[in-house]
Amino acid sequence: MIPVEHTIDGIRKALEPHRHRGSIGFVPTMGALHAGHARLIEVAREQCKPVVVSIFVNPLQFDQPEDFERYQRNLESDLALAANSGAQMVFAPSAPEMYPSQAETFVEVQGLTQHFCGASRPGHFRGVATVVAKLFHIIQPDVALFGEKDAQQLAVIERMVLNLNFPVAIVAVPTVREPDGLALSSRNARLAPDERRTAVCLYHALTRARELIHAGERDSHTIREQAGALLLQPGVQIDYFDVADPKTMCPVSTAGPPVYVMGAIRVGATRLIDNLLCR
Ligand code: PAJ
Repeated sequence: MIPVEHTIDGIRKALEPHRHRGSIGFVPTMGALHAGHARLIEVAREQCKPVVVSIFVNPLQFDQPEDFERYQRNLESDLALAANSGAQMVFAPSAPEMYPSQAETFVEVQGLTQHFCGASRPGHFRGVATVVAKLFHIIQPDVALFGEKDAQQLAVIERMVLNLNFPVAIVAVPTVREPDGLALSSRNARLAPDERRTAVCLYHALTRARELIHAGERDSHTIREQAGALLLQPGVQIDYFDVADPKTMCPVSTAGPPVYVMGAIRVGATRLIDNLLCR
């Protein structure tokens, strides 16, 4: 069985013999692991040893308390998936271990977080940047891996590492999808069968937007209207669907590549996000 450390002292001691060898790989997660997380671990394994996976449902990044409560927690199956994917160690702290007192120090990446998930989930990226900064201090990885599925999060982490001089290389891993195109997400498990069938409309809308851009369409309004029409389904609420500049994570009115098409929808009670980079 893969070793699990639940305390900061414990993981620091376990990593001590591996320090200064330049190859500690780190995959931060909130658990409920799936094939998307597995891909991150597999990519880490190709270049790092040991590979450490953290499993921590971070209360600081949830803007809705019920979303935090409903988040799946299953350490046993997560440990099996982490081990089978090639991780050597798991760090699974409790909330009091990570936040023994009221959090009073935060990391906030401005600019990149004004729109999209930053706008619709106030405090979310502050929670993400703060916990990832803490995890980087605890693990002190040489390489850390993040999924392109969460493109705005990836941009925030890259900016934080640059601005705060963390000595860690960030590796971006392409989105792993179901055969029909739906991006894997821990939240997919909450979808009822009919919601699951509907959920793929986000991928269809993003693909349509990318086709329009590749066919030469440059007007973001037209792209939003034509591709976004695929999201008009019963039970679907659109949070955002737009074209963004990858450097600023701001909406653009002219969709000159490279641009992201990004979407967030609610299917029933479940919020899903996805994006495609158009070069
Ligand atoms: P979580 O949602 O568990 O995701 C952990 C990592 O897995 C993130 O880097 C995410 O982008 C990546 N990931 C999720 N689904 C993926 C998919 N279908 N394909 C490829 N990668 C995928 O993101 C978080 O946790 C948290 O915000 C965290 C960074 C751990 C901070 O708490």
